[in-house]
Amino acid sequence: MSARWSDRQQAMLREMGVTLWLPPAPAEVPLPEVTVPVPVQAPVPSPAPAPAPVRMSRPVAAVAEANSPSAPRPLAARPSGVAAMDWPALREAVAGCEACGLCRSRRNTVFGVGHAQAQWMIIGEAPGEQEDRQGEPFVGKAGQLLDNMLRAVGLTRAEAGPEQQVYIANVLKCRPPMNRNPEPQEVAQCEPFLKRQVELVAPKLILAMGRFAVQSILQTGEPIGRLRGRMHAYQGVPVVVTYHPAYLLRNPADKARSWDDLCLAREVLRGGGPAPA
Ligand code: URA
Repeated sequence: MSARWSDRQQAMLREMGVTLWLPPAPAEVPLPEVTVPVPVQAPVPSPAPAPAPVRMSRPVAAVAEANSPSAPRPLAARPSGVAAMDWPALREAVAGCEACGLCRSRRNTVFGVGHAQAQWMIIGEAPGEQEDRQGEPFVGKAGQLLDNMLRAVGLTRAEAGPEQQVYIANVLKCRPPMNRNPEPQEVAQCEPFLKRQVELVAPKLILAMGRFAVQSILQTGEPIGRLRGRMHAYQGVPVVVTYHPAYLLRNPADKARSWDDLCLAREVLRGGGPAPA
């Protein structure tokens, strides 16, 4: 360790509460395929006359296919009126959302946690396996690192006032199977929920973590390395961009940069940072 880290970096790591970096997460076991039960017709007791031959027109074939056990669950339109929802309505809309294919494989939706009027809002990408099981964002190894990073700047996800307790949400509320990258149409379907969360929390600052979160909320294809260190805005809220904790677990050398990003965010909240670009 000491050969790889400068004194300043070691001090920073101590402050982030990190003494040992954890190894990368083990490979995941794929989720079992979810099949939708199809009602089984009771057998007809009396001998029925031989049925007339049926010519399968295309619509009939389509119906048969939709009813077959292997047919995917049909999607539904996203609940309307998201932009005007209050917290309970928004939570319910997310819980019941079937607007993209991720609803077919999720165990739970992952709405978000934290202070409803938090000054800091953390935006990540999408739930992983642990988050999908527990219905809460950032509870796996990346979440432990996030908690340490927050602690290093005096923040927490635990009960506290709006200056200390953050609000944590993801761009996607459902886990992409096998943690694959989110698809553009999944992000498009889910983003209104995030937008409304941002409006309701009305944070003073957003910390966007990881390429997908950053690129989706800032509508850019630029890499994090080029977006860090300067201010951006999402719905009028100042945004600081940083690496995703899962990336930092794989690339601990970039933790020092991420510490700089946290310090920039803290500066901005104290009123001393640069104005959004
Ligand atoms: N990664 C994210 O971006 N969000 C989570 O909730 C967990 C892992």
